[in-house]
Amino acid sequence: MLAVHAFDTFLRERAIPFRAEAPLGPLTTLKVGGPADYLVEPRDETELADVFRAAWEGDVPVRFLGSGANLLVRDEGVRGAVVRLSRFDRRHGLHVQAGYNLAKLCKETAAEGLAGLEVLAGVPATVGGAIRMNAGGRHGEIASAVRYVDVLTTAGQVRRLSREEVGFRYRGTRLDGAIVVAAGFDLKPDDGVRARYDAILGEKKRSQPLGTHNAGCMFKNPPGGHAGRIIDQCGLKGLRVGDAHVSRKHANFIVNDGRATAADVLRLVDLIQRRAPVPLELEVLVW
Ligand code: EPU
Repeated sequence: MLAVHAFDTFLRERAIPFRAEAPLGPLTTLKVGGPADYLVEPRDETELADVFRAAWEGDVPVRFLGSGANLLVRDEGVRGAVVRLSRFDRRHGLHVQAGYNLAKLCKETAAEGLAGLEVLAGVPATVGGAIRMNAGGRHGEIASAVRYVDVLTTAGQVRRLSREEVGFRYRGTRLDGAIVVAAGFDLKPDDGVRARYDAILGEKKRSQPLGTHNAGCMFKNPPGGHAGRIIDQCGLKGLRVGDAHVSRKHANFIVNDGRATAADVLRLVDLIQRRAPVPLELEVLVW
């Protein structure tokens, strides 16, 4: 308790923007889950490094929240600090800060005739979150468009990592605890990019329940298969627990009809995993 108190005092004395007992549900696309002890929104790298150090010294756990699009927060919420890089939202050419909206970046670069990010059309994420998770789908993943990633060391220095050093893999990286503050992209001029962007976004609108409260694909695709098809073939579309149900449009999506709890969603996840003929691993992070 003493440590948490010291962290609280640090935030107040440094006037770092924060809220205590902040509900996280509204900051996620699924709209479920309890509060964070602290929601902290540092304004620059110095504040961010100081928050990180103060939390470390006080034994306060730290988590990073991006767009909250691939995240399921439990009803109990999370202890410690949740850091949101909402103020790291600038773009200078192809150098983009971690809090920048990825869907916006994909749309902008496609309009500029630059190819590489159109494969992620409509993916709800921040640039930092998309990099950490190596966001992607059938058309490609963010890794292929990354030139470098800037991470913050605990000493408050920015270190530039090459794409190889980031260690991208299926829906992940080797970044571990490192904090992504910005990334540089490698995009190629291409006249066909606008048409591809429109086609990919159109396909997504047709096949996914966009505009509902959901966390995107709940499960990773198992080797050689598609989680959506497998869940569909088990006849689980429409399966409901409380106010959560398996989307009828795409079976790898769970939709919150408005009043679902994290427990409803997790119960549905468990039912799907029990009935599927192959192991289905969550793609969505659970806090
Ligand atoms: N399918 C069904 N029933 C369904 C859903 C899908 O039969 O209810 C079939 C489709 O007809 C298709 C196959 O399953 O033949 C695969 O469809 P899907 O659209 O799910 O494509 P995917 O390759 O499995 C991946 C990503 C998606 C991403 C799309 C398009 C994963 C787990 N999923 O899906 O990512 O949008 O490619 O790029 O990697 C996400 O990460 O949140 C996500 C939705």
